Amino acid sequence: MTTPILETRNLSIAFGGLRAVDDVSFSVERNRITTIIGPNGAGKSTLFNLISGALRPRSGHVLIEGVDHTAEPPYRMQAAGLARSFQITNLFFDLPVAENLRLAAQVLEPWSLALRPVSASRKALQRVDELLERFALAEKADYKAGALSHGEQRRLEVAVALACKPKVLLLDEPTQGMSHGDTQDTAALIKSLTRDATVLLIEHDIGLVMNLSDHVIVLHQGQKLAEGPPAEIRNNPAVQAAYLGHV
Ligand SMILES: Nc1ncnc2c1ncn2[C@@H]1O[C@H](COP(=O)(O)OP(=O)(O)OP(=O)(O)O)[C@@H](O)[C@H]1O
Ligand SMILES: [Mg+2]
Repeated sequence: MTTPILETRNLSIAFGGLRAVDDVSFSVERNRITTIIGPNGAGKSTLFNLISGALRPRSGHVLIEGVDHTAEPPYRMQAAGLARSFQITNLFFDLPVAENLRLAAQVLEPWSLALRPVSASRKALQRVDELLERFALAEKADYKAGALSHGEQRRLEVAVALACKPKVLLLDEPTQGMSHGDTQDTAALIKSLTRDATVLLIEHDIGLVMNLSDHVIVLHQGQKLAEGPPAEIRNNPAVQAAYLGHV
């Protein structure tokens, strides 16, 4: 068996008496889309905070390619190949779109060049161009991020997370608040990410989850209720009772 790109082992955290994430273990396969679903407050975003090192678990471990990276700071996680986007938008609204991307892509430059002028950041600038093209933002490159539509901002946020060429990308509700058309475009985009990365997604739109996911993990009251291929999850009576019956 090959080592999974990402693995959680018995992850737990409590806030006061509330077990927000309770003994959650799973593995993520390379170049696949694994989606976490569950009711509001199930612990999905908290699970992402534990995986990305934003929160330290009370117990349990996070492994990236078989190496323990539990609760490491963001730059160490990035070096290990992990990047994330946030449920709440995380852009520099007063900076141009291209500059938001360049700042994120700057880690691709060797440290020895860190103090050179921006124009010398060839790898970063090339990455910015690639991302503007791929995310259909080239025409808006000079707009302030704050001037983009909601859908474009969410798209830019995914592009920012991808700028450092991560191996694993965590996306927390990337289609939240999007129109139907924007949601479909974003779904196609997420699918295309698996060419060069592994995606761990949190998503509420169940149609999208079923279409997009290779593997689905269901959280309920902090615990893993079920996991499996989308069709199996849809037909699971416990999942229907806890979640699918309500969406
Ligand atoms: N920093 C915190 N301090 C205290 N309680 C928290 C904290 N973060 C999350 N919680 C609580 O933990 C539980 C899980 O929250 P979380 O945000 O992980 O849920 P979620 O599954 O992402 O929900 P949603 O679908 O609404 O985004 C909730 O009851 C929430 O109120
Ligand atoms: Mg959440």
